[in-house]
Amino acid sequence: MFPGRDLSGTATTRRNRYLLAALATLAALVAVAALVVIASGGSTGPVGHWTFDEDSGTTAADSSEHDNLATLVGSGAGWAAGKQGGSSLALNGRSYAEIGMPIVNTGDDFSVSAWATFTGTSGYQTVVSIDGDQVSGFYLQLRGDTGRFSLTRLSTDSTSATTVTAQAVTTSPTTGTWYHLVGVQDTTAGRILLYVNGILQDSVPYTSPWRASGKTAIGRGRYDGNRVDFLQGQIDDVQVFDRALPATEVAALAGTTATAPTITVNASGPTTRVSPTLFGTFFEEINHSGEGGIYAELLNNRSMMADATTPLHWSAVISGRGTGSIALDPGVPLNSALTRSLRLDVTSTGPGNRVGVANDGFWGVPAKPATTYRASFSAKASSGFAGPLTVSIERPTGQVLASGTVPAVTRSWAQYSLSLTTGAQIPATADNRFVIATTAKDASGSSLWLGQVSLFPPTHGGRPNGLRPDLAQKLDDLGASFLRFPGGNYLEGHTVDTRFTWKDTIGPVETRPGHRNDAWGYWSTDGLGLLEYLQWAEDLGQQPLLAVYAGYSLNGTHVPADQLGPYVQDALDEIEYATGAVTSTWGAKRAADGHPQPFDLAYVEIGNEDWLDASGSYDSRYAAFYDAIHAQYPDLELIATAEVTSRPVDVYDEHFYRSSSWMNSHADYYDNRSRSGPEVLVGEWATREGSPTPNMGAALGDASWLTGLIRNSDVVTMESYAPLFVNVHDVRWAVDLIGYDTTTSYGSPSYYVQRMLAQHHGNEVLPTEVSAWSGLNTVTTRDSTTGALYLTVVNPTGVSRAVRVTVEGGGVDGGGVGPTGTATVLAAGSPTDTNTITDPTAIVPVTHAMSGLSGAFDHTFPPYSVTVLQLATS
Ligand code: AHR
Repeated sequence: MFPGRDLSGTATTRRNRYLLAALATLAALVAVAALVVIASGGSTGPVGHWTFDEDSGTTAADSSEHDNLATLVGSGAGWAAGKQGGSSLALNGRSYAEIGMPIVNTGDDFSVSAWATFTGTSGYQTVVSIDGDQVSGFYLQLRGDTGRFSLTRLSTDSTSATTVTAQAVTTSPTTGTWYHLVGVQDTTAGRILLYVNGILQDSVPYTSPWRASGKTAIGRGRYDGNRVDFLQGQIDDVQVFDRALPATEVAALAGTTATAPTITVNASGPTTRVSPTLFGTFFEEINHSGEGGIYAELLNNRSMMADATTPLHWSAVISGRGTGSIALDPGVPLNSALTRSLRLDVTSTGPGNRVGVANDGFWGVPAKPATTYRASFSAKASSGFAGPLTVSIERPTGQVLASGTVPAVTRSWAQYSLSLTTGAQIPATADNRFVIATTAKDASGSSLWLGQVSLFPPTHGGRPNGLRPDLAQKLDDLGASFLRFPGGNYLEGHTVDTRFTWKDTIGPVETRPGHRNDAWGYWSTDGLGLLEYLQWAEDLGQQPLLAVYAGYSLNGTHVPADQLGPYVQDALDEIEYATGAVTSTWGAKRAADGHPQPFDLAYVEIGNEDWLDASGSYDSRYAAFYDAIHAQYPDLELIATAEVTSRPVDVYDEHFYRSSSWMNSHADYYDNRSRSGPEVLVGEWATREGSPTPNMGAALGDASWLTGLIRNSDVVTMESYAPLFVNVHDVRWAVDLIGYDTTTSYGSPSYYVQRMLAQHHGNEVLPTEVSAWSGLNTVTTRDSTTGALYLTVVNPTGVSRAVRVTVEGGGVDGGGVGPTGTATVLAAGSPTDTNTITDPTAIVPVTHAMSGLSGAFDHTFPPYSVTVLQLATS
């Protein structure tokens, strides 16, 4: 029964009595009319109100007009000093209070208000709920999974139903502090809302309100038919309403006034610098991010080295009455690095027949219109096989999209290359294959050996052995200042033997043996090797940040101190390869590889995530590398990956893979970091929500986190998101910044956050204060040359926020805010909204002009949005 809606219930309510009395006496027709209105659903006061001011006994009175007594249940239920009035309900994690009926219809509008304080903040703790059969009709609670206050509803009365939760912006309430919580269900708007301390935290769509018909519980919930989520602490002044309270009434219940949030920027206040190197990128070979990713090679297993016995990704092409077979042939290696070739045995040929080999690429071989592909291979033929060979890109149907001819092959290894150009009219396709075949009529009983078979599309900047243009362009658009490489786990390998052995990754590609990337489970040809990484950084105007192997691999092995010498020397050689004069041993090698000019290397990282090395050997391993590198290269900044006490550390690399609620509530993580200690590289981080690429909720967490990194970039001098890339056909890591398949690519909402904030910031941080918006993450920077202000605001809630923005003090010369500016906004309808390979631009930043600005103006920040306001100051 629902007092305030239904006068025929079993509960003899005070309203019943009033109504009956009024009807009986017929004394006040106006009053009767008014009560009928109330009875039909227009009550203004609460339909239940427990002040818990009794301070003794086992019941709590309902001070609303309905007299629904709450009974204390469990030996730990008692009384303690209250927040409102004399006392409050004290609970010990096993006790609660309950009213033997649902105090409100959860199938309709309702609001629940309560004060609560907690003695511990772990686990789910429910302040108010109404029992369904299996689950509660709603939970006004502290959530155990996110540590946030919430109003949560399930879509039906079932544990397997969908959960909808409006949550507080911040996590981890402080024990011993009173919080005012209000949950609102507004069925007209189709939303549930949560307020904390009078301030709207979240508003989310909820469209399946169902009526819970069990008891009303204070201090517990119900799940799987059981009483659960017991609260430890105190609850006071619980009020339940049969309507959706507006914000002003919620604020009044919380004892505040519903003031509009304000953001105040102090343009003449003290500033700190924004690190010019803050925004960077981190690349490692994961998710086919190099092979089948940014490394533009289109053929898979071009070197025949990916497997010892099976010619992976190669198949025989036999048509007509020709017969033949293929096999790996270790007896006829291409050279000492590529110790296997692909042998095509031609059993029989004849007129109209075709015999050859095909490669299926990385989930297909792409073909775009009017495009020239460069094919190359080494071949050697037995007697009886003279060619010619036809080289082609073909549709699965056999339709030839581009082809060329090698007139003849010789009896000894020789290299062949040719251009294949597609027609202007072909559609872009991905499911093609690359074919080398002969239609010679007289090749029966002969063999052809192939090695290092390669197909390249046009590359970024036309660089041979270069990068896939669309992916390189996406990186270029990020405007990153550095490139950290080559890993990550990929650097370390699962074992010492499968680490990134840089010396095997330089020189002509057909002399690179490749290695099994056992950190991420596939073969690397090492075509993307040390020189290519350095050139990539150079081409995109980035500083290389070279991570060197420091004697620790993923299986937990660490190289003991007395065997570390060769690894230290290897790192010295690697630095010399990158930076040495052409007269040095390794500088000369670099010159021979085509790059006489030394690279501009400033940072060397010693290992990766060595905090995982439980042996405690990192300090001494770092010391060995530090002593050797510092002696020869005193200007290099050395980056440590775990705590070091024995030697100086220039920069520490710290990694964070976290939830959006953690990121949204930890933007202040570095606010109190010592400014006299080493700088910080946040070399890997991501909000892990959405897959294969992050969704809008993750992007909001990322943006919040970035506001803190920008604000603290006098100490956090570099950051790089991880991982950067995912081939959507091979998701080895769940959440990755940029997705792609064989032909197309897209940026995630998190990608656009990186891009927006990298492109829209100044060089100094201005003090910025926020009021009446708890949990808002914001940062303001100014370009000291132009005077432009960049105010970044992250609204992670489902509520649009009208904010008064005030810029105090002046611009570069003390002047004010100019009348025009821009707002660049990344926004979505829901945190789960995202971009995908088939819907790549569902969420992209939009810039619009603003006018009528001055030193104080109002701006509305949409739900689930990241905004950068760019303001002119004179
Ligand atoms: O970025 C994915 C992995 O996360 C990296 O390889 C490793 O450094 C970290 O644990």
